[in-house]
Amino acid sequence: MKTELVKPGAYAYERAGKILREGGLVAFPTETVYGLGGNALDPQAARKIYAAKGRPGDNPLIVHIADPSEAEAIAYTNDTYYKLAKAFMPGPLTVVLPKKDIVPDSVTGGIKTVAVRCPGHPVALELIRAAGVPIAAPSANLSGSPSPTTAEHVMSDLEGRIDMIIDGGQSEIGVESTVISLTGDVCTVLRPGEIIPRELYSIVGDVVVAQAVKVPSAAGDKPESPGMKYKHYAPSKPLVLLSGSREEAVAYVNNETKKTAVLAYSEDADKFENAYVIDIGAADDAHSQMHNLFKALRDVEAADAEIIYANLPPETDDFLAVYNRMIRACGGIVVRLGT
Ligand code: TXA
Ligand code: MG
Repeated sequence: MKTELVKPGAYAYERAGKILREGGLVAFPTETVYGLGGNALDPQAARKIYAAKGRPGDNPLIVHIADPSEAEAIAYTNDTYYKLAKAFMPGPLTVVLPKKDIVPDSVTGGIKTVAVRCPGHPVALELIRAAGVPIAAPSANLSGSPSPTTAEHVMSDLEGRIDMIIDGGQSEIGVESTVISLTGDVCTVLRPGEIIPRELYSIVGDVVVAQAVKVPSAAGDKPESPGMKYKHYAPSKPLVLLSGSREEAVAYVNNETKKTAVLAYSEDADKFENAYVIDIGAADDAHSQMHNLFKALRDVEAADAEIIYANLPPETDDFLAVYNRMIRACGGIVVRLGT
């Protein structure tokens, strides 16, 4: 299959809308990362998405809509959903709700809930309207790779496997949306993102963070969100997180005798003596680090390194998304420095 790469515009929307209605796949930009879209009401399209990504069929897809009220067609909503929609949609928040029968089981991996998201990106919204159907879209990477934040990343993973890519430039946020569940008694964060627990708390009053957000789950565990049980984003060389002061981390890396790459804070970038350095942003700047992280995890593959180091991010609200992605990319390998 030839993958058509187009810029946003009348041609792109008309052609992409047609491809989606006919069961094909179109990758598109969102404010978080690029998505791989298919018609969410077409079981065959969902199967094509899983096949193109090489994704396990039990990991459910997020359904994208152009207006929060469109959730009515696919899910059983509630007051909390609309309060959150008023505060955060369109935007980087995904809400898990009980699903309606119109959503095929192949979209939700057989579970009885559906994840709903109204993305805050004009190209994504225009595409959903052009298709005239809700769009099921996971991140547009091969399963296990870092989520794509540019059309080039999508091309390098999925060229020849999908019909079209709309190139809307670099994703602004850089990590995937915050996923919350409203199916239990308390609003539960299943995947942290740009919208942090404190902000959710200010709207809904009570918020818990699922255990698996901070700890990579072990084989056999049954996390609330099926996606949390898979190792993700891992570079092809071991990634090791260093827990300790920044000075201790610099000294530790400078003592390493193997060929080394380091995902470094801007302030430390020129302190490494022999390592291949990728700057991921200032130490206290969670937004820059979110923005740069997935590109850094792809770029580090170009380094001729045997081992990759990064600082263990703080476990605070602001850094929760960076912490979660780093912990999963390293598969839980953390070295404690100092005393
Ligand atoms: O920012 C985003 O959310 C991007 C863009 C393209 O919208 N999409 C994205 O999709 O990251 P994906 O498929 O890569 O991640 C979806 C996550 C997975 O961890 C999945 O397990 C979880 O959401 N999820 C989806 N439906 C769910 C459900 N019904 N219950 C619990 N978790 C669900
Ligand atoms: Mg993904």
